[in-house]
Amino acid sequence: MTRSDTGRVVVVGAGPAGLYTAQCLLDGGAEVDVIDRLAAPYGLVRYGVAPDHVRMKSVVGVLRKPFATGAGFIGNVTVGRDVSLAQLREHYHAVVYATGCPLDRSLDIPGEGLAGSIGSSRLVGWYCGHPDLADFAPPLDQPGAVVIGAGNVALDVARVLATRADRLRGTDVPDRVLAALAASRVRDIHILVRRGPRDARFTPAELRQLGELDDTRVVVHDDGTLDRPDDEDLDLRRRQNLGILREWAARERGAGERGVHLWFQRSPVALRGDDRVRQVVAERNTVERGRISPTGEWHTIGAGLVVRAVGYRSEPVDGLPFDPATGTVSHEHGRVSPGLYVAGWLKRGPSGVIGTNKADGAETAAAVLEDLPRLPAPAHPSTERLRRVLDERGARHTDWSGWLRIDAAEQELGRRRGAERVKVGDRHTMISLAIAEGARLCTS
Ligand SMILES: Cc1cc2nc3c(=O)[nH]c(=O)nc-3n(C[C@H](O)[C@H](O)[C@H](O)COP(=O)(O)OP(=O)(O)OC[C@H]3O[C@@H](n4cnc5c(N)ncnc54)[C@H](O)[C@@H]3O)c2cc1C
Ligand SMILES: NC(=O)c1ccc[n+]([C@@H]2O[C@H](COP(=O)([O-])OP(=O)(O)OC[C@H]3O[C@@H](n4cnc5c(N)ncnc54)[C@H](OP(=O)(O)O)[C@@H]3O)[C@@H](O)[C@H]2O)c1
Repeated sequence: MTRSDTGRVVVVGAGPAGLYTAQCLLDGGAEVDVIDRLAAPYGLVRYGVAPDHVRMKSVVGVLRKPFATGAGFIGNVTVGRDVSLAQLREHYHAVVYATGCPLDRSLDIPGEGLAGSIGSSRLVGWYCGHPDLADFAPPLDQPGAVVIGAGNVALDVARVLATRADRLRGTDVPDRVLAALAASRVRDIHILVRRGPRDARFTPAELRQLGELDDTRVVVHDDGTLDRPDDEDLDLRRRQNLGILREWAARERGAGERGVHLWFQRSPVALRGDDRVRQVVAERNTVERGRISPTGEWHTIGAGLVVRAVGYRSEPVDGLPFDPATGTVSHEHGRVSPGLYVAGWLKRGPSGVIGTNKADGAETAAAVLEDLPRLPAPAHPSTERLRRVLDERGARHTDWSGWLRIDAAEQELGRRRGAERVKVGDRHTMISLAIAEGARLCTS
């Protein structure tokens, strides 16, 4: 059986879900192309995982496998803008969407739109060198910053803001990010958690890292809830979180140039400021059996930067049935309808670690492979023909060898800074490198 006997599948989105799905499809004998809106693959592994989580990023060694075993890469192409679903269906038997959840959830509180109030996707995209954020700079000129949320993204954001810039020199952050962090005046980072310590979603390994930062005190404001002796029924993750928090709460606060403050049972109710955010108004909650009840007790925290790390959401995709209640595409085991499939965060919502997408992608690929023999043949089963369509539309599409040129350039930049790689953080340079226009390297 040759690949083309089985069928042609295009996967939209080169994040972990798309790439795990692609690998299963290749293993099942399908011919596979992967399209991404960026010239670089790996989705949030490249543009979400914190720069100091170097070991986590090594998963790209697994994620690149589809391209070593026959998948094609079509980069810098946004499906829905440069090419439509209907056009893709002219070239492939089946289309799998794995476009993730790129948008930030909002809080719907007064002042949320003030300058300096941003969603975590902006701050994370900035420090990860996402080309969409090449012209963005977060305001780091005030001593206070507030991070809202109790997930691992909130911890990532707080940790990066509290990390001394020289500690990030050996990572892949672009030079402009390193310079901004070196000049940062942020000294106190306040994490607002709306529930108590037992209900926080972060994981112990990530929590522990906050306590390992140089010159940084961690201060726990728990209103005495840590003392409650009701741990027996808790799972290991929660018990470990409590153990770490109790240790910090009992510790002498000590000196430290910077402080990370964990405020439990606090909800932001308003952001205040004039031309930009200056203060967060936080209200104390009580929490009983998961129910949050506001107490009416307010206090304010000075902040020039407020980052919402309260989760992500996907956007409706043309041609796919979207459930606004869950923010996901309706499907059965990844199958939306014969010939149309979803995987990853677009399928399940914005939760789960990189590895969660492996079983998820396998499920979707199984549905595709089951349907392929019965799917109608596309009118023009040719990737070359699709690339010609993109050319006609003026889309500057890239390929895998283009990514390898970006990759090599980033490793070269890394050598100059003593890092494994330094990201090229602007779209123009990425595309020029990818289509071999001999661009000069720039990391700004
Ligand atoms: C800030 C952050 C940090 C994280 N850190 C970790 C961590 O340290 N460890 C861990 O295990 N998990 C981590 N996770 C979770 C992990 O990143 C996700 O489980 C995983 O990335 C979801 O995979 P996905 O493929 O569904 O989405 P994504 O990784 O978001 O990939 C979606 C891809 O689709 C592309 N795309 C979007 N729209 C289009 C379009 N219209 N046309 C073409 N392409 C498109 C995007 O460019 C992207 O490449 C983190 C998540 C976040 C938000
Ligand atoms: N190192 C890692 O492994 C790593 C790093 C980053 C991300 N990830 C994974 O990626 C996924 C997404 O992470 P995430 O942090 O974005 O999501 P998350 O784990 O779902 O956390 C979102 C947080 O936002 C809070 N929240 C939601 N609405 C709120 C509101 N209106 N006011 C105040 N708080 C609000 C939630 O509180 P409630 O609990 O009260 O709803 C929750 O604490 C998770 O599965 C995470 O584990 C993993």
